[in-house]
Order: sequence, then structure tokens, then C-alpha cells
Amino acid sequence: MSTLSITSGGVPLDSASRFSSAASSLPGTAPHVAREPGVKLAVRDLTMRYADGHTALRNMNVSVHAGELVVVLGSNGSGKSTFMKCVVGLNRPTAGSVEVGGRDLVALSGKALREARLPLALISQNANLVKRRSVLANVCCGALGRHRTLATALGRVPREAVEPALSYLDEVGLLHLARQRAGTLSGGQAQRVAVARALAQRPHVLLADEPVASLDPEAADEVMRLLRRLASEDGLAVVCVLHQPELATRYADRLVGLRSGRLEFDRPASAVSSQQIASLYLAEAS
Ligand SMILES: Nc1ncnc2c1ncn2[C@@H]1O[C@H](COP(=O)(O)OP(=O)(O)O)[C@@H](O)[C@H]1O
Ligand SMILES: [Mg+2]
Repeated sequence: MSTLSITSGGVPLDSASRFSSAASSLPGTAPHVAREPGVKLAVRDLTMRYADGHTALRNMNVSVHAGELVVVLGSNGSGKSTFMKCVVGLNRPTAGSVEVGGRDLVALSGKALREARLPLALISQNANLVKRRSVLANVCCGALGRHRTLATALGRVPREAVEPALSYLDEVGLLHLARQRAGTLSGGQAQRVAVARALAQRPHVLLADEPVASLDPEAADEVMRLLRRLASEDGLAVVCVLHQPELATRYADRLVGLRSGRLEFDRPASAVSSQQIASLYLAEAS
């Protein structure tokens, strides 16, 4: 245990610019991505029509700044996950642009797209940890996109990924569990490890699709506090899909309301009424 504390002691944990400065020095990361001020993610006129003809998103426009936590609300099927998948490149949008670090991801492919996507990290409802491996090994996995070697291809953890991984575990309050098997964690702990694994990607934009959906209220609150802190103190742009309006209004800077694939509102959380939120969940008039 003391070894862990000593090892992590050398890693700065409280620098506001830690993520951007670290990313700017990495090979394969275009310098201008890290230096871009203000807007970290700009989504313009995003439309997604699936192969079966269903249009799940129509002309969606959203910008997210460094230090902001934006919560996306909407009923089941309103297009929230489609939006997140379009942003990270798991869905190829039918139209529109997704700008990260001044580059439109929709216009890129291959190596250029992989590089341009480096500032984005996604966490989802299930932590999806490798249960038989240690917590530390799971967090190190987040850095694999940046350490492509024969050793990583064989599933080994690169030595240089260990110390940062310990600092990310410290950041989410779970350094003491570094050597524990991931399969032994509670749901809330597992989700915080998933956040640490996402941080190992050194993102500027953190996307979370229903990260607290399978957690009890206390664990959900803890994860939301963590996301809030990553935005406020570390300057990440955070976009989070939630189903709990109460958590959304408590933690978000801005609320984005989606209804049938259309943007209903995008306003400061304090300016959105409970009626506006409730209207998102009313059945569509036929
Ligand atoms: N791969 C797909 N092919 C066709 N339709 C899809 C696909 N994925 C999602 N959809 C449809 O798109 C709409 C939005 O889905 P989704 O983005 O998952 O909603 P949400 O996350 O808000 O619940 C739904 O009607 C869903 O059935
Ligand atoms: Mg969804």
C-alpha cells in the first residue's frame, strides 16, 4: 500500500491544465488540439438517419466549453445515445459536423480520424471493466490508444502508463483499490474506475451516456460530483446523458433537452423550468 502512495506522490494531481498540457506533449496529437481555447466540442446541424430510414437526430446544434458540464435529457428513443455515438464516431452522421480541436471529425477517416478523436473519451452505463484483471490494469487500458507496441498488443501494461494511472485512481478516490481485482468492486466503485480509465486517455471532452443509470442514489451522487469536479477544476468539457432531472439541475451548467431527435432547449440549468423538463417526457401528439 505504501508503495502505491509513494509512486503516485510524484505525479502532480492538482494542476488545472494537467490534461491539456499532457496531451499536447504526446506524439500523434496535433498541438492545436490542446491549445484551442474556449469551445472544446462544436456540433453543427447534426442529422443521423439509420440504414432502416429512421431519422434519430435532426439538425442538432450544441457547443461545449472547457470547464462546462452539459447534461442531455430526453425520453427513451429521443436520440441521446445516437448523439453521443455520432460525437465519438461510433455512428457516421448523415449530415452535419462534429468539431473537436478545430477539426471536423465527420470529414476525416483512417489515421487522421483516430488522431483527431484522441481528445474524446466515452463512458457508458456499464463500466465494462475486465473483471479478472486488477483495477490498475483496467485503468492502464485507457492509455493503450497512445502506447501502441508489441507489448500492448499482447495485453501487457506499458510501464509508462502505470504512474499516471495511479494518479487517475487517486483523482477518483480509489487509489487504495489499485491492486484489487476489478470483479470485486461495487457498482459505484466500478463506474469511478471507468472514469479513471477514461482520464487515462487524457481527454479534453468527456462523454458519459447514462453513467449513473445502474447505481444507487448515493453512488450516483458520488459519480456526478466527480464529473462536476473534472469540469470545474480540471477544465474538461463534460457531456452527460441522465434520466434524473433532479441530478441534472443540481450538477449541470446547461441542460440540453431532446425530443424525437430534435433539440427542444439548450439553456443554463437554472433557467429551465420543471414544466419544460416534464414536456420532454410527454407522448408526442399524433
Ligand atoms: N442502429 C440503429 N438502427 C436503427 N434505428 C436505431 C438504431 N439505433 C437507435 N435507433 C433508433 O433511433 C432512435 C434513438 O435511439 P437512441 O439514440 O438509442 O435513443 P436514446 O438514447 O435517447 O434512448 C430510437 O427510435 C431507436 O430505436
Ligand atoms: Mg440511450
